[in-house]
Amino acid sequence: MSSSPQPIGVIGTGYVGLVSAAGFAELGSEVWCVDIDAEKIAALLRGEVPIYEPGLGEMLARNASRMHFSTDLGDALEHARLLFVAVGTPPTYSGDADLSAVHAVVGAIPASRDHALVMKSTVPCGTGVSLRRVFTEQGKDGLAYVSCPEFLKEGSAVADFLHPDRVVVGDTGDWAGDAVVDLYAPLGAPLVRTDIASAEMVKLASNAFLATKISFINEIANVCEETGADVVEVARGMGLDDRIGSKFLQAGIGFGGSCFPKDVDALKQLAGNSGYHFQLLNAVIEVNDLQKRRVIGKLHKHLGGLVGKRVALLGLAFKPNTDDMREASSLVLSARLIADGSSVTAYDPVAEEQARKLVTGISFAGSAMEAVTGADAVVLVTEWQELVELDWSEVASRMTGSLIIDGRNALDPGVIRAAGLLYEGIGRR
Ligand SMILES: NC(=O)c1ccc[n+]([C@@H]2O[C@H](COP(=O)([O-])OP(=O)(O)OC[C@H]3O[C@@H](n4cnc5c(N)ncnc54)[C@H](O)[C@@H]3O)[C@@H](O)[C@H]2O)c1
Repeated sequence: MSSSPQPIGVIGTGYVGLVSAAGFAELGSEVWCVDIDAEKIAALLRGEVPIYEPGLGEMLARNASRMHFSTDLGDALEHARLLFVAVGTPPTYSGDADLSAVHAVVGAIPASRDHALVMKSTVPCGTGVSLRRVFTEQGKDGLAYVSCPEFLKEGSAVADFLHPDRVVVGDTGDWAGDAVVDLYAPLGAPLVRTDIASAEMVKLASNAFLATKISFINEIANVCEETGADVVEVARGMGLDDRIGSKFLQAGIGFGGSCFPKDVDALKQLAGNSGYHFQLLNAVIEVNDLQKRRVIGKLHKHLGGLVGKRVALLGLAFKPNTDDMREASSLVLSARLIADGSSVTAYDPVAEEQARKLVTGISFAGSAMEAVTGADAVVLVTEWQELVELDWSEVASRMTGSLIIDGRNALDPGVIRAAGLLYEGIGRR
């Protein structure tokens, strides 16, 4: 292990790139960050944090002297050999990952024997092999390539970077793989050093497995509703089995976010493109789509038609402690409610600015209490702590109706009922 960590470049300063950059700076590296978004770079140069991520502002401030921001890739190339790529890989219409940002980076890197691309972005299995072919076509054979998939979770990304469950490094056994292993060594995490394709597949398979677990417990919840069992009790009983584990067994209104939906789709598509029909993932996706709509059924059951009804949505981000609205369940829910004729008022502690870019036709409230005032029904969409801990007696006094739909099974039904409200969870008695 090297005693003074080497400088690195980070290309793409979004959720993954910025957290990783700050994390490596915390471990002692000089970090040269590059992004094509000039506004984002200008904000970072002013010391502003362009995303909401707990602890990130503090970590950036602590390491400000080691962090450099630029729109010019040349700065990173000049100072660092390892170039971590953390650009977006969103889904295309076909469900495949859009690798255009990755290809733009590859196209911009000059021929060099001194540099390596370290792929943090989530890419389909086989991407590393084809990019190395592209290097050859572009006369850049000397460039090294490492797959180093990222597993951090938005909302706890700083802690996840510093305490990863594992570090996965896929490489061809050259200097670059060794250098990446050295960089991560101080974290003391279990290391999986493997070939490039297997490293890529670890990432996709991990996300697909977690998504499968969520869709599985959501289906159990739906069966519980038909049979009188309580999914929270069922999940507790299942989760105590070491072979199953309690994480990702919370039934609710489905998964969203920038990773699970697209990565499950990308794996399904990848399998399909190579001639294999990944049947299980079709079901995972379909269950998740239907789950987001089940809240509408519950509202109809209690309120009759939704025309003219006022519904308050508490929480909009795809999960608590982030402002990320990508593929959030609230997007489907608000669109369905508006289509059914309801008026929707929503409140989120931090995601309003992002939500305004994606949602039309709803009103935004400045507080949870403002959102619930005059509501016929309240839906807890994102289990922010401040929303779970609301004064439910005050909520009851402000609402016109009394229905609370707990889309995340995060509330105590006893507390809700004691406030004189009608509680409806997902798969709960
Ligand atoms: N967000 C997560 O929780 C998470 C977790 C693990 C892995 N990932 C993966 O990491 C990758 C990045 O995700 P994200 O959420 O950080 O994305 P993001 O959209 O937040 O950030 C991507 C950044 O890359 C920049 N960019 C795009 N093209 C560029 C180019 N040619 N040169 C320089 N910068 C460029 C964008 O301006 C943006 O700032 C994706 O592949 C994603 O699947 C994300």
